[in-house]
Amino acid sequence: MVDGKNIVLGITGGIAAYKAAELTRELVKRGCAVTVMMTLNAAKFITPLTLQTLSGNPVYTDTFSLTGDWRIGHISLAERADIIVIAPATANIIGKIASGIADDLLSTTVMAAHVPVLICPAMNANMYRNPFVAENMKRCADRGFFMMDADIGELACRTEGPGRLPPVGEIIEEMEAVITVKDLAGVRILVTAGPTREAIDPVRFISNHSSGKMGHALAKAARMRGAEVTLICGATAQAAPGGVRYVKVISAREMRDAVMASLDAVDVVIKAAAVADYRPSKHETSKIKKKDETLTITLLRNPDIIAEVGKVKGSRILVGFAMETEDIEKNAREKMMAKNMDFIVANDLTREGAGFQHDTNVVKILDRNGTIEELPLMEKSAVAHRILDRVRDIRNG
Ligand code: CTP
Repeated sequence: MVDGKNIVLGITGGIAAYKAAELTRELVKRGCAVTVMMTLNAAKFITPLTLQTLSGNPVYTDTFSLTGDWRIGHISLAERADIIVIAPATANIIGKIASGIADDLLSTTVMAAHVPVLICPAMNANMYRNPFVAENMKRCADRGFFMMDADIGELACRTEGPGRLPPVGEIIEEMEAVITVKDLAGVRILVTAGPTREAIDPVRFISNHSSGKMGHALAKAARMRGAEVTLICGATAQAAPGGVRYVKVISAREMRDAVMASLDAVDVVIKAAAVADYRPSKHETSKIKKKDETLTITLLRNPDIIAEVGKVKGSRILVGFAMETEDIEKNAREKMMAKNMDFIVANDLTREGAGFQHDTNVVKILDRNGTIEELPLMEKSAVAHRILDRVRDIRNG
């Protein structure tokens, strides 16, 4: 989570500098303290006043440092920061950092700081592909700077290719990944997410309203904390998160096969998927035409994936979810015990902001010792971290 963090945002002179305004706004909205440092060229693309207004803090530029006020301690500001983010980063600043050149406020600050630095390149596609630039980016990465890849698409100079500033959401996610404590480093975690679809005929299926958001939030949070993540996911609108092994499935039986095939190589299984309990007994190969007033479809039980995992789990940690509309604690506890889970995350579907589709959730975590932790309404990403805290604590004994 980035809230409460101190961010130094370095802006350099490229057309994408205007996007730094949106980045600043988003970070402030998420509770960050943002201090902006701009190069003189950046100030030609976007005014310091804009950034000052959005960040609510003085903006430091080279001009500012010449006024005699430089003792204000811009370098110590950077040292107190949790992260320095350079967005957009031009070929020029990347070249300076790679070569150890410190000839303006930003490059000086970066050279002096001992905090993580995330570099988000944005430039013309030919510049981005230039071997010197590529080499400089590699040198930065080899020296421990965190480098994002530029996005591919239409560029301001009317060409297509790599060179676009990564989207603001992705930059913030990457910042989170950089500053998050790696307390699950090396832990192999399998997460399932989303709904399964059970085909009736080539155009119809049985499914549920699961959006996959909770499972994706878990996969992202686990990856940020250093875990090696496998995400097995049903059909959702969520984009595959970066840095995870992503396996796309459709039906419950496909999900079962994918889970069982991965089981040997994981330490933790978190089953956030909403698996269809039943499937049509027959998958028609051609479209069912309407004839009679009623149509009967016979359903067959699907495999209970988590129950199967529970039988062979060994020393793995097994976490399940329960979707309930009544007797939430009793039903969740019974599921946990029957399926050999270590703990269960119970959604009360009657609560506002809980369950499918929402970005928030209201859950209770029940464990085998009989404790019940009731969490308030939270972002799914925050719920994910609370679940992973439990996993970490179990592993640490
Ligand atoms: N689950 C599973 N395979 C199934 C059904 C459910 O692995 N065929 C997992 C879900 O991913 C979840 C847990 O079991 O982690 C509980 O799911 P839920 O739908 O709440 O419970 P069910 O066991 O299916 O019981 P019921 O539908 O009767 O409430």
